[in-house]
Amino acid sequence: MNILILGSGGREHTFAYKIAQSAKCNHLYVAPGNAGTRDIATNVAISPTDFDAVKKLVLSQDISMVVVGPEDPLVQGIHDFFRTDVELKDVSVIGPEKLGATLEGSKEFAKEFMVKHGIPTAGYQSFTLETVDKGCQFLETLKAPYVLKADGLAAGKGVLIISDLEEAKKEFRSMLIDQKFGIASTTVVVEEFLAGIELSVFVLTDGKSYLTLPTAKDYKRIGEGDIGLNTGGMGAISPVPFADASFMEKIEEQVIKPTVNGLQKDHIPYKGFIFIGLIKVGNDPFVIEYNVRMGDPETEVVLPRVKNDLVSLFEAVSQERLNEVTLDIDDRSAATIMAVSGGYPEAYEKGKEIVGIDTIEDSLVFQAGTALRDGKVVTNGGRVIAVTSFGDDFKQAIKKSYQNLEKLSFDKMYYRKDIGFDL
Ligand code: AMP
Ligand code: GLY
Repeated sequence: MNILILGSGGREHTFAYKIAQSAKCNHLYVAPGNAGTRDIATNVAISPTDFDAVKKLVLSQDISMVVVGPEDPLVQGIHDFFRTDVELKDVSVIGPEKLGATLEGSKEFAKEFMVKHGIPTAGYQSFTLETVDKGCQFLETLKAPYVLKADGLAAGKGVLIISDLEEAKKEFRSMLIDQKFGIASTTVVVEEFLAGIELSVFVLTDGKSYLTLPTAKDYKRIGEGDIGLNTGGMGAISPVPFADASFMEKIEEQVIKPTVNGLQKDHIPYKGFIFIGLIKVGNDPFVIEYNVRMGDPETEVVLPRVKNDLVSLFEAVSQERLNEVTLDIDDRSAATIMAVSGGYPEAYEKGKEIVGIDTIEDSLVFQAGTALRDGKVVTNGGRVIAVTSFGDDFKQAIKKSYQNLEKLSFDKMYYRKDIGFDL
């Protein structure tokens, strides 16, 4: 069959790498893709949120499966668009419909879902412009630090963690009164701070049954020692060494099962990935957030460890036969390190030639913000390239990625040299 992947990052290059290996994939398209996906698929220069352009492509190229990488098209309802269009209704879409995507698109909706289904999460209340004063009173009842979350999508920037109460009140007001994050902060969730170590689990579900994919831990801050601004993610490892069997069982019983059952009870159709951001407090898991897609760069360590044919897994999702499938996971550890443009996550330059990609043989190179110009691979985004390696443990895997990163270069290339430092 012909397959289309929507998106352009390292996550989508990893999907393309796995899907291209499947005997079931005839022709693979990526929209818009990057210089890495161009080597293994046909890139098409359309935006994943331009549904009419996606429809034209799907019909003209006889595409029968669409794998949605990022959250935006899902939150905007691309799955519903396919389901309700007579010409597209038989195309499989991997990614939830709009209602399910609200688990990522609205923090308030996600918190209500967790409370309703008894899923452990931080205590919270949500506020709007009409209830600003109540929100300030609620902040006074909490202990520092204070966690403020814009309800809607804010490109990963909508969460503020502030240690000073007066500062927190000021930011809270600014979110609601000045719309600091635009319409995303029309509602603000104020929640208790949870102290612990973070990890993520990934679930693939057809809405009835589910498979738990390997765990991963990403490193979001730009600076070594987890300091500085938040990024999309500077590196990741899988599996997470502290997620042992008994902790995984708690996650399964207290989080994953109630989540999938909750979707069914609430009549929320869901065919796709659920990315559950967790924090381990003492020995217990708490949900920090749901995302309705795979993570980036978590995908770069999770998918290479999945030995199953990815297209067969997706067919099982689409046909609601996931209960018939068993996962086959590589027991080795995987680590990925992301090289970024100097200046990222603030202003950075693009168009710098990337040298050395072809010299890397014993690691996987997943391209993110790259493009092809005059036959050369150049930088085209903040996060540029991820180098994924396997090892007997995460330390070995990380070491190999660092050795291979040294073979890559571009002007003002930066990467964190301490991935895994806290484990
Ligand atoms: P989110 O966008 O919800 O993932 O939040 C971004 C980051 O803020 C998370 O990865 C955590 O590091 C942190 N965070 C969010 N909520 C909490 C909380 N209740 N307690 C502690 N840290 C939090
Ligand atoms: N790496 C975090 C995310 O994809 O949201």
